[in-house]
Amino acid sequence: MKAVVTNAKATGCLELGEVAEPQADSNEAVIAVSAFSLNRGELRRAEAAPDGTQIGWDLTGVVRNTARDGSGPPEGARVVGFSRRMQGWAQFVALPTADFAVIPDAVSDSDAATLPVAGLTALYALERCERLLGSKILVTGASGGVGYFACQLARLMGAQVTAQLRRPDFADMVRATGVDDVVISPDGSGFGAHGKFRGIIDGVGGQVLSRLLSRLDERGRAILYGVSGGPETTLAVRELMSTGDGRIEGFHLYRESEIESAAKGLDRLLLLLADQRLTTHIPVTGSWETIGETAARLIGRDFAGKAVLTI
Ligand SMILES: NC(=O)c1ccc[n+]([C@@H]2O[C@H](COP(=O)([O-])OP(=O)(O)OC[C@H]3O[C@@H](n4cnc5c(N)ncnc54)[C@H](OP(=O)(O)O)[C@@H]3O)[C@@H](O)[C@H]2O)c1
Repeated sequence: MKAVVTNAKATGCLELGEVAEPQADSNEAVIAVSAFSLNRGELRRAEAAPDGTQIGWDLTGVVRNTARDGSGPPEGARVVGFSRRMQGWAQFVALPTADFAVIPDAVSDSDAATLPVAGLTALYALERCERLLGSKILVTGASGGVGYFACQLARLMGAQVTAQLRRPDFADMVRATGVDDVVISPDGSGFGAHGKFRGIIDGVGGQVLSRLLSRLDERGRAILYGVSGGPETTLAVRELMSTGDGRIEGFHLYRESEIESAAKGLDRLLLLLADQRLTTHIPVTGSWETIGETAARLIGRDFAGKAVLTI
């Protein structure tokens, strides 16, 4: 079958290649893939992987063979899933039935394809913060795949949301999520007038995080899920001490989706999409034959939100 594979010499380090069809374990269904969305994290991993490695977390498709243990939806069901083995960008993928969910009729493949990594990360990161109703929450990298969903989900959870982004050209798209405040700040400065935050949902790291940690409220939680702006940060220890019980927590979706299966989390997000309480932002679509250029555009931050390619 055809699949997206790594090639260090190709544009975006990715190209279409030939690989063996997947062998399903007894708890896995085989899905004929229709579309997928790209994430920064998997593209970074692809850059470091040996040539010929398969890639891809997020995918939508149709169940071709049900799981032998009888779990999961029937053949022909339209589904969205998370390939932990990163083999989702292929004509066929074998997925444990706990890692995919049925897409409601009201939701398109494109919209559903944006959910697995970005939507689940935003959802579970916010749920690490307690007492969101009426609390102030800061979302960094709000123009990114995760940040865009985090802004909307924090609002739905009843928080007062401040969004940080670095470029004014993406501000309108973030404002349209209904956030209370948008702060354009490439380095994390300029938050003095915005008070302290019960939760900080951070995918940027580096200098931005270093500055924003001083904005953590008493008993606040900073949930660190990404390092788009740099993998190291400086911590103002005195500020953290003065919060009393302020905490900085690492976050990883693989771990979090063992606590609640991806299928259950996706069901929750799909319901919100179907009810139009959650929206997607997909400025880039096309055939999977454009995978190299699309990956290079995402890494170069040529667009905000998500790119979805169809097979
Ligand atoms: N731990 C986990 O389980 C997990 C899960 C999902 C994602 N992640 C990680 O989280 C991060 C964000 O993921 P994503 O998919 O949302 O990425 P994305 O769609 O590429 O968005 C990146 C965001 O970070 C901002 N940004 C990029 N470089 C920056 C810099 N140097 N300074 C300040 N802001 C910068 C971008 O702003 P512009 O729009 O202005 O470019 C954008 O808002 C990545 O590091 C990813 O690997 C981790």
